[in-house]
Order: sequence, then structure tokens, then C-alpha cells
Amino acid sequence: MRRGRLGAAKTSTTALVDAEFLENGAARLRSGGWRAALELEPLNLALQGDSERTRIWRRYRQMLAALPGPVSLYCLSKPRDWRPPPPSSSTFPAAAADSAFQSDLVRDRLIQHQRHLLVIWADPPLSPGAGMTALLGRGRSGRPAVDLDQRCLTVGAGLERVGLRSRRLDDGQWLELLQSWTGGRSGRQPATFASWLAPGRAEVGPRRLLVDGRSVRSLVITGYPRRVGLGWLAPVLLAPPCDLRLVEHIYPVPKLASLSHLRRRIRSFETSLQVDHLRGQRPDRGTETALGDALELEERVLMEEEHLFQMAIGMTLEAGSDGQLERAWHQLVGRLAELGCSAVPLTHRQADGYRMTMPLGADPVGWGRDMTASALATALPFIRAGLSTAEGVLLGPSLVSRELVVVDPFSSRNPNFNIIVLGTSGAGKSYTSKLLATRLGLAGCRLHCLDPVGEYQGLARLLGEAVVELGMRPGSGLNPLGPPGHGNGPAEVAQRAAASMPVLERLAMGRAEEGLLAEELAETLEEALLQILGRQPGSARLTELVAELDGMGARLLAGRLRHFTQGPDAGVFDGSLPLAGVISLSRVRRDRERLLPAVMQMVLLHLEAELSGSPELPRLILVDEAEVLLSSARSAVALEGLSRRLRKLGAGLLVVSQVVEDFLNSEVGNVIIRNCHTKLLLRQEEVAIPALRRAFGLSPAECDLLRDAEPGSGLVLVGRERAAFAAAA
Ligand SMILES: Nc1ncnc2c1ncn2[C@@H]1O[C@H](COP(=O)(O)OP(=O)(O)OP(=O)(O)O)[C@@H](O)[C@H]1O
Ligand SMILES: [Mg+2]
Repeated sequence: MRRGRLGAAKTSTTALVDAEFLENGAARLRSGGWRAALELEPLNLALQGDSERTRIWRRYRQMLAALPGPVSLYCLSKPRDWRPPPPSSSTFPAAAADSAFQSDLVRDRLIQHQRHLLVIWADPPLSPGAGMTALLGRGRSGRPAVDLDQRCLTVGAGLERVGLRSRRLDDGQWLELLQSWTGGRSGRQPATFASWLAPGRAEVGPRRLLVDGRSVRSLVITGYPRRVGLGWLAPVLLAPPCDLRLVEHIYPVPKLASLSHLRRRIRSFETSLQVDHLRGQRPDRGTETALGDALELEERVLMEEEHLFQMAIGMTLEAGSDGQLERAWHQLVGRLAELGCSAVPLTHRQADGYRMTMPLGADPVGWGRDMTASALATALPFIRAGLSTAEGVLLGPSLVSRELVVVDPFSSRNPNFNIIVLGTSGAGKSYTSKLLATRLGLAGCRLHCLDPVGEYQGLARLLGEAVVELGMRPGSGLNPLGPPGHGNGPAEVAQRAAASMPVLERLAMGRAEEGLLAEELAETLEEALLQILGRQPGSARLTELVAELDGMGARLLAGRLRHFTQGPDAGVFDGSLPLAGVISLSRVRRDRERLLPAVMQMVLLHLEAELSGSPELPRLILVDEAEVLLSSARSAVALEGLSRRLRKLGAGLLVVSQVVEDFLNSEVGNVIIRNCHTKLLLRQEEVAIPALRRAFGLSPAECDLLRDAEPGSGLVLVGRERAAFAAAA
């Protein structure tokens, strides 16, 4: 008796899962078909202009027309209220204030976890003879008769042309996705493959399913709007009222079948008109128009300018309770009605509805309607308007949707942890950088900041970081002979000398020398430096170098360097403070324009040495006014090198610059941009827009946004994803 009841419960939930097993990146369904899944990075249509939208639509239509077989497109969406993460340390009074501010700001806004999938079908051929030959002797239970891998490549290439990057899911990734998005449980001892994915309990009712205590209801779209533009599903996809799974099952209709179907339609219209004629009635206008349309379509299908499909759109809503489900349901149906769609709930077929939207490429409902490729291509489901990661820091609300923009520069999935902020003067670069640094700092990231004008001291106080003001007192400066190395061998000494030379050359340069120290002077300087570093590898100072030069009879060089060991600027280059926290360079006054790039380069070198000595994670090095470093070839290369090396130290750079051209017009600048996974573009001057458009692939709408952006507003680009945001603190 007991066994029987348990058995019955198991069947009822495993029957909700169509997969028999996964093997080599392909799922075998109970029906005998095989499926492969591609995960996609969606497009942000809200930031595209009309011509881009048309281009996307045209390419997507081409991709659909070239489909080798049926596919299912999924958009899985979980909207969540955003709660600021609890501050990692309660010692900062600012943490509580910022947390309260964020809670206020985000009221009525949401973050969405979204995944986009395209599942490719390969069903066994209908003819039994052909099926048997194709299936015999291939794999554990027969690999698909068609080459699923080849189909994935073809479809992936088509998607790439649309601008949608895709990756094939392997068994583990697919299983994990199915478990997390369909409520399947991994904890249970699985008896069959399906029980890995089946929910624990399911209760089937006529109007809703109860799956593990959550209320679920599915619908299919039965009527479509007459006039639509690309992405017309956006109001549903971009702000779903609760967890939503949307599927588009797409079946290409072969040319011959399309033509015979169209001819049947044409014949029926003609017969109807003939009947009108025989009855002596005026021909029906609607039938005449439909006949004209069908004839034109027949012509286009014949010429292969148009393709016919069957498409079914289904949606499954999932909410915490029946009450929530009802509210979300009315909201969704209302939204669909506003779009001009009609939808029917799958009453008495809720289990089929649940299976229809599970990302496995099964369509037990089979409720499609005819559609041309042109119409089908407008229902592109791979879209999003925001950019919100599950973890990370809040940048602010999106400018184009109800979503919040949340970025996670230190996500382990990022190829690097670097951030670049570009914008014209007064665009809010420092404001936005301080905001990012504060929120990262409150979440546990250690901050080091290169502050040329002394505007980050407040931030240091807020985060409890040290402030180092170079040259404030004698001995409170930077040792231009380099950071203490980890070794004292000849190789380390040579390395230290090479690192120190750019700064020393700058210090030793006379007014007449344009950017380069005369060769023989540079040689003498290097010789003295190597001598002194060889004798006292850890403790050599500038004063000792001056004495060494004096000893060698190089009075000119010694005289020039003495300006920095005596007098008002003596403190800046005397000392070997551990550099940490905010390093203010506002006291570098003497020959500031000329010296700053070398000093900043030296500070970065010291910081890198400090970072490699301590394994604390994660850390951010903020470099404001980075255009100073770009102004000298040597310091630009140093910054570029650092942007490559920092990831290994668990650290990221935050590069802030107002001179966009310096970055875009130089090789090194471009490499630095490429090395920054997270990019923030704030207001830009008109003259910089064309270069930015080319470098970042901006659409006209995005360019307009950057032209007119308010301080602290702009675009954030993370990998290929982007969002328009307004920084708020
Ligand atoms: N999101 C914002 N909300 C309110 N005020 C802002 C915002 N962003 C910037 N501001 C204000 O705009 C002004 C300019 O900002 P900020 O100093 O950050 O600009 P910047 O781009 O760093 O300029 P510069 O290139 O001169 O360093 C400041 O007064 C700042 O307070
Ligand atoms: Mg600034």
C-alpha cells in the first residue's frame, strides 16, 4: 500500500520532466528526440536607434530563414526586490546610512535574473525505415539522425551575425540551469535522471499547478497584434510581474509544404468569392484582400524571399502563493491585451504548460500558428534593458526601465577586475568613481587611490583608510629609487634600477631638455644608481645618490637633483612610507606638469610592490586624472602593464580620465581600454563622439544619450552587455 502510494507520487512529478538523460551536451527526450542548448547574451534594444533595430530584425530574419530544423527560444526571468547587501563591517557609520539610502532609492525598482536559451531540435525522422538505419549502432541509445553539433554551429553563427553571442551548454551547465530554473532538486537520491529535475511535490489543478508549494499557471498566446515593431514583447519580458518562463517554439515549414498550404488557402478564398458571384452578391472586400495577400506571399515563398513557420508562444507564471499568482496573472493578461495579444490559460492542461516552458525543447501543447519569417523576427525574445548581476554594487537606477543597474567588477567570471571611467570635464567622473569605490569598500574591498588634486580624503575617512600626503613633512615622501625589492641579487637590483630611471631622469632633466635627458647624462645617472643600489639594495635614498654623483664628478646632475633633497619640495622625494589608502599628490608643486606622470608611475610601482606582499583580497587601485599618465609614453606603458598584471594579485584598477582622445588615439590607450572589463562612459564632447562610437560600437541613440547626459549619468558596458544608468548616492 505504502509502496504503491510512493510510486504514484514519483510518477506524477517525474512526468513533468521530458528528458531521459543528458549526454555529451545533448538531451535525449522521452519522445526519442535529441536537443542541444545554446545560452545567449541578450541585446539591449532600448539603447538602439531605428536603423540598428532594422538591421537586427533583418539579420534575425535571415537566421530564422536558414534554420535547419525546429528550435525553442526561452527567456527565463526572476524579478527580485533589491536589498543592499549588509555592510561587511558595522564600524563605518556611513555603511548604515548608505544602506538606508539604497533601500529608499530602490523602492518600486527591481533587479532581474534572466537567462536566455535557444534549444535546437533533432527528432528522429518520421519514416520508420530511415529512422532505424540512421539510429542503428550510434551511441548508447542512438545519437540523433542529424548532426546536432553542426546545427549548433550553424545557428550560433547566425546568432553572432545578429549580435547575439552564444555558447553551447555542456551537461553539467544544462543540468544546473534546469535545476535552478524549474524548481528541480539536487538533494534527493535520484532514482532516474528525471528525478534529478522533478520537483518534490506537485499537485495538479485545472487552473494551476502547485509545485513544491509555489503556484504555477501557464498560458498560450492565441491572437497576435496586427502591427508590431522589433521587440514588441518587451513590456512582458522587461518587467514581468513574477517569475516568468517564456517560450517560442518555432517550426520551419518546408518550401513545398508552405506552397501547398498557401495554395489550399488561395483555393478556399477563390471558392468563397465564386460563391458570392454565383449568388449575385458583391465580392467580400476582406476575402479579396486576403486573396491578394496570399497570392503575393505565394510568389515570395516561391522566389525564396519569404519563409513560413509555425510558431507557438507559451508562458508560465510562478508565484509564492495563489493570491500572488492571481495578481500577477491579471497584470500579465492586462499587459498582453494592451499589446493587442489574446491569451488563453491552459485550463486542465497545466502540467503540459509546465513542460512546454521547461527549457528542454518539448512542446506537448502543440498549439502553433502560421507566421512568416518577417513577422516571426519581430518577436525577438533575447532582450533586456538593464544590467543587474546577482551580486555586486548598486550604481543607480536604469534610465530606460524599472530595473536597477548593479555591477560586479570583482566577479570571478570577469577576465579582469579593471574599470575605466571616461567623460568630459564636470561629467561626474570623480563622483561616480567615489560612489563605486565607497560601495565596493563597504562591501569589503580595500581601496588604494592615486589622488592628484587631493579630493579623495573624505572617502578615506569614510572607509577608515589611511591618507598619505606625499611631502607633507620631511620623510613623508616617496623614495624615487624604487620600492624595496623582495630580493637583493643582481637581477633584482637591475629591475629596481630600470623601474626608478624614468622618475630620476625626469628629476634630473634641465629646462632645455625636451622630454629626454641627454644620453651621456642618463648613462652617468644609471651608473651611479646601479652602484648605490648594489651597495645598499634596501635603503638607498636620493641624498645618497646625490652624494654618489658628486663623488663621480657629475656636478651638473647632482646639482639638479639637489633641488629635490633640499628646500620646499624635499619631503616629496624623501622617505619610504608604506603606501596605502589615499595617496594625495597635491604637494608635488615644483614643475608639476612635467613631474606628475613620473611620480604617478612611481606610486603605482610602489603600490604594486605593496600588493604583492600581502594576500588580502579584493583591492582596488583608483587612478583619477589618468590622462596625466597617458601624456608620457613611459608612464602610459607602465599603466598598461599594471592593468595586465593586477588580476593575478586579486586587484583591479579604476582608471578615470577626461581626455578620451588620449586613450582612443593611442595604441597603449586602446590596450588599457580592452583590459578594463567594466567601462563607464559619462557625458562626452561632440568631437569625441565619432571615435567613441567606433571604439565601443555605440548606436546613435547611445551617442545621443552621452551628448546630453546629466552629471553622473551615462552608459555602463560590462563585456557585451550595457545599460544606461544615473549614479545615485
Ligand atoms: N549623480 C550626481 N548627482 C548629483 N551631483 C552630481 C552627480 N554627479 C556629479 N555631480 C556633481 O557634478 C559636479 C562635477 O562632478 P565631478 O567633480 O565628479 O566631475 P568630474 O568629471 O570628475 O570633473 P573633472 O574632470 O573636472 O575632474 C560635482 O559638483 C558633483 O557633485
Ligand atoms: Mg574629477
